[in-house]
Parts: sequence; C-alpha cells; structure tokens
Amino acid sequence: MNEETAMASNGKPTFADNDIMLHCDGLTRIYREGPQDVTVLDALELEVRAGERVAVVGSSGSGKTTLLNLLGGLDRPSAGQVRIAGQSLADMGEAALGDFRNRHIGFVYQFHHLLAEFSALENVAMPLLIRGQQRQQAQAAARDILSQVGMEARCEHKPGELSGGERQRVAIARALVTDPSLVLMDEPTGNLDQTTASNILALMDGLAERSACAFIIVTHDPALAAHQDRVMRLDQGRLSAD
Ligand SMILES: Nc1ncnc2c1ncn2[C@@H]1O[C@H](COP(=O)(O)OP(=O)(O)OP(=O)(O)O)[C@@H](O)[C@H]1O
Ligand SMILES: [Mg+2]
Repeated sequence: MNEETAMASNGKPTFADNDIMLHCDGLTRIYREGPQDVTVLDALELEVRAGERVAVVGSSGSGKTTLLNLLGGLDRPSAGQVRIAGQSLADMGEAALGDFRNRHIGFVYQFHHLLAEFSALENVAMPLLIRGQQRQQAQAAARDILSQVGMEARCEHKPGELSGGERQRVAIARALVTDPSLVLMDEPTGNLDQTTASNILALMDGLAERSACAFIIVTHDPALAAHQDRVMRLDQGRLSAD
C-alpha cells in the first residue's frame, strides 16, 4: 500500500488481494510498571494482507491482548512500529489516531467494554455518530447488523440486562458496523453457543469477501482458529506459524 491507493466511491481506500493491510516490524512491548521489566513482545514481525484472516493462539499471559492493543493503537510499543493501510500509527497524535481507528479498525475486546448507560442499539450506532452520520441513518445500520447477530429483539436493552454472550454479540456488531478495513477480535466467541458462533462466522466471511476486510482473531477455540486462513502462535514474544 502506498500514497497512490485508489479511493472507492464511498471515500474508503480500495485494496487488491495482495495489498498489505497490516505490517509490524520489530514490535516490542516491555512493561516497566513492576519491580522488574517484563518483555511481553520481543521484536515481533507480522504481515496481513487485505481480506486475509489470521488466528492468533497462545497460552494465557503470552501477550495476545498486549499485541491487539498495539495493533489497534490503544497502546504504544516500546520499540518497533505498526503500519495499517500504509500509515504508521507512531506518526499520529492522539486525535489523528482516534479518527484513524474510527475509520479503519473494528475492535472486539476480551471484556466487551460496552457503555453501560446506553442501549444495545445506541452502543452499536455510536461509532457511526462519532464519524458524523445522521442519527436515523446510524440507528438503521445498527439495527440491521444487530439483527445479523441475532439481537434484533434486544436492541433497546442495556448491557446490564443482557447475558455474556448477548453482550459479546453487541460488541461484535459495534466492531463491524463501520465496515472497517481491519477487525481485531479478542476471544470473540468465548461465550457463544455453536449456532450463534457459526452465524457470526458467516457474518465475518461475508465482510471479508465483500470489503476485503482483514481479521486478526485471538482465540482458544480450535474450530474458530481452523476457520481462518492461517494460524499463528504467540510464544516468547514472537509469532510463528502454528
Ligand atoms: N499493564 C501491564 N503492566 C504490567 N504487566 C502487564 C500489563 N498488562 C499485561 N501485563 C503482563 O503481560 C503479559 C501478557 O498479558 P496479556 O494480557 O497480553 O496476555 P494474554 O495472552 O492476552 O492472556 P489471556 O489469554 O489470559 O488473555 C502477562 O504476563 C501480564 O501479566
Ligand atoms: Mg488476553
């Protein structure tokens, strides 16, 4: 990807299959908070193409969430860099990074992070409102994607009134509603039954095909990992093919 990236009619960059959506170089994260430094990621390399789906597996504490936080620009690396759609996250200030995240990245957190005082519908519509869409239009899009994750009957409920799996589905809907170029998911189907999980897989398949959206999915679920194009294992701060 370079500055000459073509723009589609909707103003989003368009990507050919072999375009690199995400590139990490020497990515290192050292936590210095405790009595001793902990190197969680150690010069990690990763390249993901547009529309490619990568599963990341690894034992608890191996650094999977740390990695997603760096890839999503929620945390800054101790060394190395992350480039998404040709742009280095390190070059962006907080405001530019926030805007870039809203336009390009969908994030499903390990713990859903929905806003407690807002309904499911409002939570899902929020990223569209933030980017300036009209409320009615944003809510229609939110309702549509909520029905695709089987939550049409629960749109008006607040997160506290939903089950763990239902909250997870709302969080997935919120990540996908903006039609992002890259989706980062941390254990997305952990709380879901088989049928709901496969509906969500189908939704992800559709998105990957339709808009060349790339996925990086952290999971302990062998079926979900096997459904991706490649499986990478995080161990000793590095990724290798599983
Ligand atoms: N803010 C922090 N300060 C210090 N150490 C941290 C911090 N966040 C994470 N760690 C440490 O970094 C390591 C990796 O944590 P991380 O949450 O990335 O693991 P994980 O692979 O996502 O684990 P799990 O599968 O249990 O979710 C752990 O040893 C953790 O204790
Ligand atoms: Mg984690």
